[in-house]
Amino acid sequence: MTEWESLLKEAAERVQDVRDRLLVSQEGNEEVGEGAGGDTTMRVDKEAEEEIIEVVGQKGDVRLVAEEKGESGPKDARWTVVIDPIDGSSNFSRQIPFYCTSIAVLEGDTLDDASHAIVRNLVSGDVYYAEAAGYATKNGSEIHSSRVTELREAMVGVDLSKTSLAIVESLNPLISSVRRQLHFGANALETCFLAEGKIDGFADVRGKIRVMDMAAAYLIGRQAGAVFSDREGRPVKPTISVKERFSIVGAGNKTLHGKMVEKLKAG
Ligand code: IPD
Ligand code: CA
Repeated sequence: MTEWESLLKEAAERVQDVRDRLLVSQEGNEEVGEGAGGDTTMRVDKEAEEEIIEVVGQKGDVRLVAEEKGESGPKDARWTVVIDPIDGSSNFSRQIPFYCTSIAVLEGDTLDDASHAIVRNLVSGDVYYAEAAGYATKNGSEIHSSRVTELREAMVGVDLSKTSLAIVESLNPLISSVRRQLHFGANALETCFLAEGKIDGFADVRGKIRVMDMAAAYLIGRQAGAVFSDREGRPVKPTISVKERFSIVGAGNKTLHGKMVEKLKAG
């Protein structure tokens, strides 16, 4: 096991402990401030992120891009650690069982430079892990994205929250072509569902997704065989910062991805 793998797994376990404790005491939803990402910070977000930072801080030469605390550490550090302590905070607050923690390590300035990534489903305890040099895993076993190539067979996650009517309308060609359109409310975990072939595609074209939501699942998805782009089919190149917002279209394979992008262009 690499040093990063053991640090990321320990950090995710500590988040699990925070979540378990705060779920029992019912203190997790208490509002404790506003995060650097602009959202309200709940106790669960804050305590989870503090645990992650304590663990990944054991490794030197690190810059942090964290949803609550923001950006810290030297800009020229070798490693950038991108942290979403709880992805799916709204689900957590309503006890809807779909949320996770997400941590990515990048050795460079783009999502494609992600070298190590973990997403832990905090309801089931399932651990998705990938390294750029290896395959994607769930609880240690290799996972692969879907081979479904026909839109009419495809189950596709589409995030429509807080979006404009114009964007909703532009999604009509895609949504009306697929077997099912879904959204679970935690984009990192939903992208891990894409990585393991539970769903066949995922589209968030609101221009609202953040690097913290996607950095880890992007590597896990790619190592599992998924293909990603922006809405026009171009590479996804967000700046690695807390304020950045972008769009992403992912599919289990190149053929389905091409068909999804075609439908989005038609919109
Ligand atoms: C949110 C979730 C949600 C998406 C939002 C994200 P958070 O992350 O991924 O599915 O619609 O745009 O902000 O706020 O729970 O970390
Ligand atoms: Ca979050």
